[in-house]
Amino acid sequence: MCGIVGYAGKSLAAPVLIDSLKKLEYRGYDSAGITVLGSGIETYKSVGKIVNLEAEIPKKLGGNVGIGHTRWATHGRPSTENAHPHNSGKPGKLSIVHNGIIENYLALKEQLIEEGYEFKSETDTEVIVHLLHKHIYGKPEGNEVKCGLLDGLREALKEIEGSYAVATVSSDEPGKLVVAKKDSPLVIGIGNGENFAASDVTAFLAHTRDVIFVDDFETAVLSPEGVEVFNREGDLLNKTVEKIEWDFEAAEKAGYEHFMLKEIHEQVSAIHSTLSGKVSELEGAIYLEELTLGDDEIRKLSRVQILACGTSWHAGLLGKYLIEQIAGIHCDIDICSEYRYRNPVMEGGTLAIAITQSGETADTLAAVREIRSYNCPTLAITNVVGSTITRETDSVLYTRAGPEIGVAATKTFSTQLTLLYLLAVKFSLVRGRSSPDYVKNFITELRKIPGQIQQVLNQKEIIKECAENFAGAKNYFFLGRHLNYPIALEGALKLKEISYVHAEGFAAGELKHGPIALLAEGTPVVAIATRGQTYEKMLSNIKEVKARDATVIAVADSKDTEIGKYADVVLRVPPSDELLAPLLSVVVLQLLAYYTALALDCSIDKPRNLAKSVTVE
Ligand code: M6R
Repeated sequence: MCGIVGYAGKSLAAPVLIDSLKKLEYRGYDSAGITVLGSGIETYKSVGKIVNLEAEIPKKLGGNVGIGHTRWATHGRPSTENAHPHNSGKPGKLSIVHNGIIENYLALKEQLIEEGYEFKSETDTEVIVHLLHKHIYGKPEGNEVKCGLLDGLREALKEIEGSYAVATVSSDEPGKLVVAKKDSPLVIGIGNGENFAASDVTAFLAHTRDVIFVDDFETAVLSPEGVEVFNREGDLLNKTVEKIEWDFEAAEKAGYEHFMLKEIHEQVSAIHSTLSGKVSELEGAIYLEELTLGDDEIRKLSRVQILACGTSWHAGLLGKYLIEQIAGIHCDIDICSEYRYRNPVMEGGTLAIAITQSGETADTLAAVREIRSYNCPTLAITNVVGSTITRETDSVLYTRAGPEIGVAATKTFSTQLTLLYLLAVKFSLVRGRSSPDYVKNFITELRKIPGQIQQVLNQKEIIKECAENFAGAKNYFFLGRHLNYPIALEGALKLKEISYVHAEGFAAGELKHGPIALLAEGTPVVAIATRGQTYEKMLSNIKEVKARDATVIAVADSKDTEIGKYADVVLRVPPSDELLAPLLSVVVLQLLAYYTALALDCSIDKPRNLAKSVTVE
């Protein structure tokens, strides 16, 4: 999740851009840069926070038009070369900033290199600026303008698959910047003799509250005099100018009361982003190019060892079930702080998978160092490009969820799960356990998940009401079987973390072996009872709970007409493939925890005693 900004006005562009980028730092800041149209294209870049960039920029840098970027790396490590803007032309003629992911960038890059374009970065973005150059100047050393910046950008974007919000400037068209959008946010700010573009309104809220939200496939030209927005066909549009009433803090959270709620909602786009470029429904194929294990090595695997902590451990537990059930490979999972000291027995043919949102968890890093001493291949699943774990493992799969600011993990959990589904199915395909047809169907169902999560989010008022009704409870229990067991654990952890209510997750079958003694009249018991192989057993467990006068809150699919006979409250998820239902149920539990904490007036984004990343043992 990067942030882009653009300015066209009468003030010096550089300070305005820097100030706007600082407001977008919450979107990630491993590196940053700006281009100002002064005597030509003048670009400054730096690694780290925006203040580092600010220090690089000459105090008297002229130019009233410019673009800027704060980066959260997805392709290529954080470095000055990979920082945006990216430029094309000799001398620099065009400069671009981009937020999004270009799925077909490798093919485009090869083609452009063949045509003589030189790449300076490892990013997907650089292909856009060279494509743009090709459309405007015809060839790498071309100087003759064949079409304008707006038309060139529109043509270049036709060749691109993926998501983008871009802002671009040309030394041949001073006094303007051109922007475009598909599947990544872009908003234009209308000022007095100055206009702004940005990934969100926080960037320019200090200057104007009048905004135009750009829709997919639209392009716009910004100059100090005005803004013109065009549709896909190039027709000029009469877009509505809206007034933003939020204060800065609310705007940073896109109007949500807390980052956690925003991040719960972002799961729709985050999963989409995780899947981007990794699956082909048509071919029934899964592309995990970052995985250094070849097909032969995958076929020879006899065991997978997962290592993780906290929420990532819950994702790993579900991963164990998936890898065993779908791929047929024996899989163990350990809590990292335990793994190090239990003298594990290791054997050849083991793949170690470390799951860590931050990539910095001390226990996870130590466990990985331990398992590496057995010489087995290692794979990390993380959200943070350039984090320590990425330097400690042979391969890395990125969740691409964007920065997660709320201490309670939400979108990073569901995107970790998404990658584990892909890994299990990929292994199964390579090992001849699943056919391409199975994979096609699986991808079709997986692609439905973001839309189905949106349906769950649409019911948040019902979940809120349920949370408020039970907010006074002293103890909460969460039950699940099979794939819903890790989700029960995660639901309980979320509630504990942010509402400080005692909550325990259990494998529903274990209840009768002890924990059932804790049940009292009215104790809320959340039973995850989506349709699947253990559904009937789950109904029996619900009856056991009801017989002790506890109150059952069931999570069930919307077509289930039976569950209402046993449960006191039913929270619904859309019917889905049994294997994928955890991705929906967990959203219900995240919302239940969130609204409970809200009702109890807790510090949701920064719960007491907790840190986002635990870098000590
Ligand atoms: O960054 P990691 O995924 O390695 O972090 C592991 C745990 O510390 C983390 O999941 C923690 O449990 C969260 N607060 C969960 O919401």
